[in-house]
Amino acid sequence: MTNPTWGGVFQQPTDIRVQRFTESIAFDRRLYAQDIAGSIAHAQMLASVGLLTADECQQIEQELDHIRQQIEQGALPFSPELEDIHMHIERALVERLGDVGRKLHTARSRNDQVATDLRLWVREAVDAIDERLQRLQAAFVARCERDRGCVLPGYTHLRRAQPVLAAHYWLAYCEKFQRDRGRLADCRRRTNVLPLGSAALAGTSLPIDRHEVARRLGFDEVSANSLDATSDRDFVIEFVFALSLIAAHLSTLAEEWILWSTTEFGFLKLPQAYCTGSSIMPQKINPDVLELIRGKAARVMGDLMRLLILVKALPLAYNRDLQEDKEPLFDSYDTVRDCLELAAPLVAAAELDRAAIARRLDEGYLDATALMEYLIRQGTPQRTAHAQVGQLVRVAIERGVGLQDLPLAEMRAIAPACDAGVYEVLGPYRAAATLTSYGSSGEHQVDLQVQAWKQRLGIG
Ligand code: ARG
Repeated sequence: MTNPTWGGVFQQPTDIRVQRFTESIAFDRRLYAQDIAGSIAHAQMLASVGLLTADECQQIEQELDHIRQQIEQGALPFSPELEDIHMHIERALVERLGDVGRKLHTARSRNDQVATDLRLWVREAVDAIDERLQRLQAAFVARCERDRGCVLPGYTHLRRAQPVLAAHYWLAYCEKFQRDRGRLADCRRRTNVLPLGSAALAGTSLPIDRHEVARRLGFDEVSANSLDATSDRDFVIEFVFALSLIAAHLSTLAEEWILWSTTEFGFLKLPQAYCTGSSIMPQKINPDVLELIRGKAARVMGDLMRLLILVKALPLAYNRDLQEDKEPLFDSYDTVRDCLELAAPLVAAAELDRAAIARRLDEGYLDATALMEYLIRQGTPQRTAHAQVGQLVRVAIERGVGLQDLPLAEMRAIAPACDAGVYEVLGPYRAAATLTSYGSSGEHQVDLQVQAWKQRLGIG
């Protein structure tokens, strides 16, 4: 027996190994809801242009609805002979409706069908990720209130640099995730274009109304070139690229929090519910969730590479290679969604150890730049002020004291522009309070940003 869907021209049945090799039902079953929604819209359009009667259309709609319920209840058996989700659903329809079911595939190919399903799926996935990013941002903004007044060492090169408010750290992540959301919104716009009606590659001679289908499925536009619409997966790649950057941002957060929660840093207490233990060392409480969030970024970036390499040098239009787009897409989506689902409650539940942070805040001369800027305000040229503060830091290091512990006379010997007001900028808290530029870690600036974020996220 040759294949009942496309075997007319064949004289041999498909080799069983080929069946197993070519099937995609194992993973594209995830597209069932989109496939059915697309088919219903297609049938309704076929009825309005007279390619189906109203009664046929109604039968098809009803039966597709029924098939959806069955799939949701696990009552529709999937088998590799039927290759993919499109054939499974169509076959079930034909089994129930006979010739009426055989009309559904009018003016349609699996090539434009799968492109449509995938665009519908990515559109929903974009929205689901966006919602979770927003929740994570809200968790950070809520922390800003809780960690009010907490000053942390800010780092460059992972060396102590300048004092920074905890809230400034949290809002840094909000900014990153906001750009990620912007990328998702861009990707959504380009995704929300209807390919259906492009048929196999060249369109159709049948009198279809593609704009009606677009309206029914909530697409903003109709694709203008059938070769392009059936062959490209750039929208998938854009989405997985956006996911890769989200994963990269999450990996930075994870890395930072892993460091901060070490005995060596001691800045952060991770809730035990988000840690795991060791099977041999009884004392261990390990940050495995954060480590996995860091590690899973590799997986998402790998998925992106897979997709890019998949489309490289593919000739127009549809090629079966494109079936390989789904697993990396689903995998990167699932991975980032799961990471975000854990990141938000973790961000909400972790606690800064403010006493431990404060105890060592005097280390590292976090106030050196504030002192240099003070000297600049007193009229010293920047390069000169930089050199003078460098010398003062050297003296302080030799004595094992802070800059604020140096007597004024000694300061003036190295930096003549100093007067008694110099002590107002020394020490990490006073140095932190000197920052005023837009976007800085100064308290007023950070407060403005917290307010702006609350408004943007609609938090009271
Ligand atoms: N399962 C296929 C895919 O995901 C559907 C399209 C198949 N089209 C074809 N002409 N064989 O790409």
